[in-house]
Amino acid sequence: MQKLDLLYTGKAKKVFKTDDDSLCIFEYKDDATAFNGEKKGSFDGKGIINNQIANLIFKILEQKGIKTHFVKELSKRETLVKKVDIIPLEVIVRNIAAGSFCKRYGTAEGTVFSSPTLEFSYKNDSLGDPLINDYHAIALNIATREQIEEISNLAFAVNNALIEIFKNIDIKLVDFKIEVGFDSQKNIILSDEISPDTCRLWDIHTNKKLDKDQFRLDLGEFADVYHEVYKRLVEKYPNV
Ligand code: TMP
Repeated sequence: MQKLDLLYTGKAKKVFKTDDDSLCIFEYKDDATAFNGEKKGSFDGKGIINNQIANLIFKILEQKGIKTHFVKELSKRETLVKKVDIIPLEVIVRNIAAGSFCKRYGTAEGTVFSSPTLEFSYKNDSLGDPLINDYHAIALNIATREQIEEISNLAFAVNNALIEIFKNIDIKLVDFKIEVGFDSQKNIILSDEISPDTCRLWDIHTNKKLDKDQFRLDLGEFADVYHEVYKRLVEKYPNV
């Protein structure tokens, strides 16, 4: 597999073409951003940890029957993935109130929902990824009603799988964001990454934040908690 031209530089990774039109290479960077890119930071090895966490999780999800873009880890920072035509929605599932949900609705952080919530943001940096509802997404030709249904079912299936994975390493899954898109056969599959950048993860015993909120809120243990999540995952799932 040959790594060819840079296709796209994101906030936390670069995407490269390959000599196979249906495949891309993700290269994870050490950079972190928050608040639509306004706050910038990094730590050495973040890209390595996120690449390996995302791949481990995608492999477990595949074993549970969830279709993902994952093909093969190429190096500590690089992964071969299926080329996906991304649907410009950030799909967010919440089990416990935190972050923008608390700000928007005045809910106390930590309130456990009686059932998971689902919301969509329109993936558009210049607009600041605004919240969007299903009717808006359909009106804007972002997705059809049937596709929204399929994406919602996929998001809840991912939620169920992730809750179990993280429970096994004494972590509560508070919320997370996924991105989905069409593979070359026009199937909707899971893409992008699942990592402490894209999830809120709280220690089951202490509620310590083991995710990017350490960076967003300047809590001081940004690198340490990523190492902690990685360590717990590989100890629990050594042979995935
Ligand atoms: P929020 O509470 O800030 O809306 O975030 C909800 C979840 O989505 C949280 O786990 C962080 C994740 N997220 C991203 O992965 N990327 C983003 O750009 C945003 C805003 C949130």
